[in-house]
Amino acid sequence: MKEPSDFIKFAITLAKKAGKIHMPYFGNIDSLKTKSNDIDLVTEADKVSEEYLINSITKKYPSHSILSEESMEICNNDDYTWVIDPLDGTTNFVHNLPIFSVSIGLKKNNETIIGVVYNPAAKKCFYAEKNKGAFLNNKIIRTRKNINLSKSLLATGFPYLHDKRYDISFELFKDFYDRTRGMRRLGAASLDLCFVAMGRFDGFYEFELKPWDICAGALIVKEANGIATDWDGNKLPGTGKRILACSNRSIHNRMKNILKNNKYKLFF
Ligand code: IPD
Ligand code: CA
Ligand code: CA
Repeated sequence: MKEPSDFIKFAITLAKKAGKIHMPYFGNIDSLKTKSNDIDLVTEADKVSEEYLINSITKKYPSHSILSEESMEICNNDDYTWVIDPLDGTTNFVHNLPIFSVSIGLKKNNETIIGVVYNPAAKKCFYAEKNKGAFLNNKIIRTRKNINLSKSLLATGFPYLHDKRYDISFELFKDFYDRTRGMRRLGAASLDLCFVAMGRFDGFYEFELKPWDICAGALIVKEANGIATDWDGNKLPGTGKRILACSNRSIHNRMKNILKNNKYKLFF
């Protein structure tokens, strides 16, 4: 990356250190708590890595705000907000699947300017800085360009809460399953996005994610020449309410047309 900012250097160091915190717990989980329901898990690794991240940011940038999954939001009046998932893919982590990450985004006045997603089990560090491209372990990454929907591999995920959209979300899954080479549900949204950015997946959609699931990954997709928007093609909601991330315009048009079909209006 040409002239990386101090912010991105700092965020990469933090993500790698937080990943180091995860690893001794991986495969050795002896205590587990639940959050919104029985399948929404949190481990000591989520908490310890979050504590490390928040303390480090507060020390270096005391005027910045911090929005992190397991803690109360720290609101300051500065233009900068760090948006953090200290462990994305907790269910995988608990079941000894190496698909989990530390996800760190930084927003300036509501616009994401840096994103880092680190997968410590594979020692893979994805990062991007606005207008400076996207990288995986220091190599430039780009989305796949000449692929259409029938030759694509897509990814998605499902919320922990099984509400009135539960059944229809599987109809939607089938709609895509019928039109592509296949669908994957890996269980870590930040990595799904990075896998679009590096060309493993051609598209990813999900609903009811949270800001910390998408902040870093969406920038990484965009900086890898991909597209990240709302399901109808409008500006991506920073809340994570709906996300559509695609490798190219043709896939984006096809996926968008399916997602904005009237039969899926319950999602809007
Ligand atoms: C979850 C993962 C998963 C997605 C869930 C998220 P967590 O995050 O990103 O892929 O489908 O909706 O909540 O709980 O492992 O940090
Ligand atoms: Ca998450
Ligand atoms: Ca998490």
